[in-house]
Amino acid sequence: MMNQKRIILDTDPGIDDSLAILLALASPEISLDALSVVHGNSSTAQGAINALSVLELAQASHIPVYRGCQLPLVQPSLLAPETHGEQGIGYAKLPAPQTQPQAQKASDFLIEKIMSAPGEITLAAVGPLTNIALAIRQEPRIVENIKEVFIMGGALRHEGNTTPLAEFNTYVDPHAAHIVFHSGIPITLTPLDVTYQCVFLQEDLNRLLKIQSPITKFIADATRFYMEFHDVYQKIDGCVINDPLTLALTFMPEICEYQNLYVDVDISTGVGLGKTFADFYNYNKKAPNIKVALGVRPRVFMELFLERMEKLAKSLL
Ligand code: RIB
Ligand code: CA
Repeated sequence: MMNQKRIILDTDPGIDDSLAILLALASPEISLDALSVVHGNSSTAQGAINALSVLELAQASHIPVYRGCQLPLVQPSLLAPETHGEQGIGYAKLPAPQTQPQAQKASDFLIEKIMSAPGEITLAAVGPLTNIALAIRQEPRIVENIKEVFIMGGALRHEGNTTPLAEFNTYVDPHAAHIVFHSGIPITLTPLDVTYQCVFLQEDLNRLLKIQSPITKFIADATRFYMEFHDVYQKIDGCVINDPLTLALTFMPEICEYQNLYVDVDISTGVGLGKTFADFYNYNKKAPNIKVALGVRPRVFMELFLERMEKLAKSLL
């Protein structure tokens, strides 16, 4: 077995989160140690149910699910039923999970796991960063013991998808993002600048539907809702699959091009709350804190995603 990358996926399932979970399960480069669930697209309770259900759908119930924060650090709760549906997985209907989430809190689990395996654990964070920020505040030593963090979030030169300026994950909990961005942890950021070039199209779905399987039916029912949202709210044909791109970069970084930049997030209470920005011309002479994906090969990524979904669907028939 190749030298697998040990990943914990911190997630707010969530339609594109669910696709990221499936991609992690379909990728031999990854050993998915656990899922930690955070508020965001859905409540933490609903997100945990979705995580357990998607794992059961993919016959991967051995992977533990930990529940995290139910609220942002400072901001009021903001969920996204208009984007992901009341249950968080669009029109998809999955049986109630047979398995339960772990009793341990996600932030305690993250600390225990990272400190028990120094330099081995990679975090992929595809929801608001509340759990990660709490873990850093509870145990600052995780900063030098974690291998790296891949974050889906932010919009540098791209417009926001939640306010005119801000992306959802950094807008929902800007204070958590601020803590993580300035923690010193090695971060690769996947902002809307690249994810909005990775649109899952009806023709991509039609290709998957050539395989009659519970996996492809789930993807179809979940993304149909997500495509309707993108059409109505953003006049986009298809749906932007932010989280699978972020997950893919953990084992195939060559899909994107990167710049090391000083990146910050606005935590002032004005119109820019949650807006991420980069000092492209180094005005402030601050050392870069984040490796930012700013170029992407969309069809290379989509081909990888489709191939892996086809393989996963066939393997479970
Ligand atoms: O802005 C897109 C991000 O917010 C994605 O991770 C989506 O799942 C939501 O969490
Ligand atoms: Ca997400």
